[in-house]
Amino acid sequence: MTGRTVIRGGLVITASDEIHADVLIEDGRIAALAAAGTPAAEAWTAERTIDATGKYVIPGGVDVHTHMELPFGGTFASDTFETGTRAAAWGGTTTIVDFAVQSVGHSLREGLDAWHAKAEGNCSIDYGFHMIVSDVNDETLKELDLLVEEGVTSFKQFMAYPGVFYSDDGQILRAMQRSAENGGLIMMHAENGIAIDVLVEQALARGETDPRYHGEVRKALLEAEATHRAIKLAQVAGAPLYVVHVSATEAVAELARARDEGLNVFGETCPQYLFLSTDNLAEPDFEGAKYVCSTPLRPREHQAQLWKGLRTNDLQVVSTDHCPFCFVGQKELGRGDFSKIPNGLPGVENRMDLLHQAVVDGHITRRRWIEIACATPARMFGMYPKKGTIAPGADADVVIYDPRAEQVMSADTHHMNVDYSAYEGKRTTGRVETVLSRGELVITEREYTGHAGHGVYTPRSTCQYLN
Ligand code: URP
Ligand code: ZN
Ligand code: ZN
Ligand code: ZN
Repeated sequence: MTGRTVIRGGLVITASDEIHADVLIEDGRIAALAAAGTPAAEAWTAERTIDATGKYVIPGGVDVHTHMELPFGGTFASDTFETGTRAAAWGGTTTIVDFAVQSVGHSLREGLDAWHAKAEGNCSIDYGFHMIVSDVNDETLKELDLLVEEGVTSFKQFMAYPGVFYSDDGQILRAMQRSAENGGLIMMHAENGIAIDVLVEQALARGETDPRYHGEVRKALLEAEATHRAIKLAQVAGAPLYVVHVSATEAVAELARARDEGLNVFGETCPQYLFLSTDNLAEPDFEGAKYVCSTPLRPREHQAQLWKGLRTNDLQVVSTDHCPFCFVGQKELGRGDFSKIPNGLPGVENRMDLLHQAVVDGHITRRRWIEIACATPARMFGMYPKKGTIAPGADADVVIYDPRAEQVMSADTHHMNVDYSAYEGKRTTGRVETVLSRGELVITEREYTGHAGHGVYTPRSTCQYLN
């Protein structure tokens, strides 16, 4: 029991509406909304009143792409579920969907159980799981059906990383055919990893070892080619497709064309592709390693097409692909060989603020901000309207957001367990003030008041976003 809370005087923003309304929370859920000052709202009594005058009242962020504790390149992503979900809450995110990993030679069940064990009792906010499928065979195909039934309804496959997570086209087609039957959604890491590995070898042989070559060998054309191939395989299978971490103009074009044909093809991009570029990868003294992720950062010109895709709904979701590795001791594993730099960027704490900055900068509207960061990810991955909106019956995952506060992003002040910020020194307007998760205060006027173990596992239905 968390009793009754009323949030008064704020501007409630959802994907569809902006209304000056008071919000009543009861037993962890939104009980009612009523126009401020009306007799209905005035009549509400509550144990706790939050004054949101001059602030936005928005749904908690839904980040459907995180990798807490991911094993990668001989090390582990540096945020645990405890540190990573606490940082997420600081940044106004109240639900994550993380990727459980099936290792080659092991069952999906083993992988999923291992991820449950990592997360359970440690999270400040609610969480769900996708499953990385690294080994498609008759047994694992059967397991896909079982996982869908128990709320793991999306599966990531990799056209990249041969020998690690990689699936060939036959394995991809088989998994897609299965998902066409069981309602699962295939999430694709679309890069031609076989071709990339040839280019990596050739680059290293030429002595091109610096981080910037990571961006040069992982070519936009090879992202586009893989995106195209994934779309065609999904079309053959009659399955929907969600392409993760889209970074290249050419890949957006593939998605747009498929969507124009009426296919259930969806795309996600991430703040790093919208705000960072190959200029960062080229930073001297190995600093570029901080920006090594895959797909890679692209030349700045690509950003305009990503913003456009977000406005036209050729891209539907912005998630973080949060996969932090410390510069010292982790990114440094790749000194002298860019291919040994663990891939991934921190960002789970920064997403809501960066996308609000995009509102300030005129790239998207306020409602589109909520749509791409809260509502659509919840619908895409079967959590709506429990998550992703403010409406009677929804979980009371609510952020009080100060749209005028100024901040400077920095590793000195962030809460992610990583020794650098990808956005060090970046000034943004807008800041999370208070965060509720199922009616409980996790951040209270910029103080952490939550606790590890508050967050619970959230089983999901199948995709609610299909044509
Ligand atoms: O560089 C990245 N994106 N690391 C995380 C793993 C993945 O491919 O999403
Ligand atoms: Zn990926
Ligand atoms: Zn990822
Ligand atoms: Zn609690």
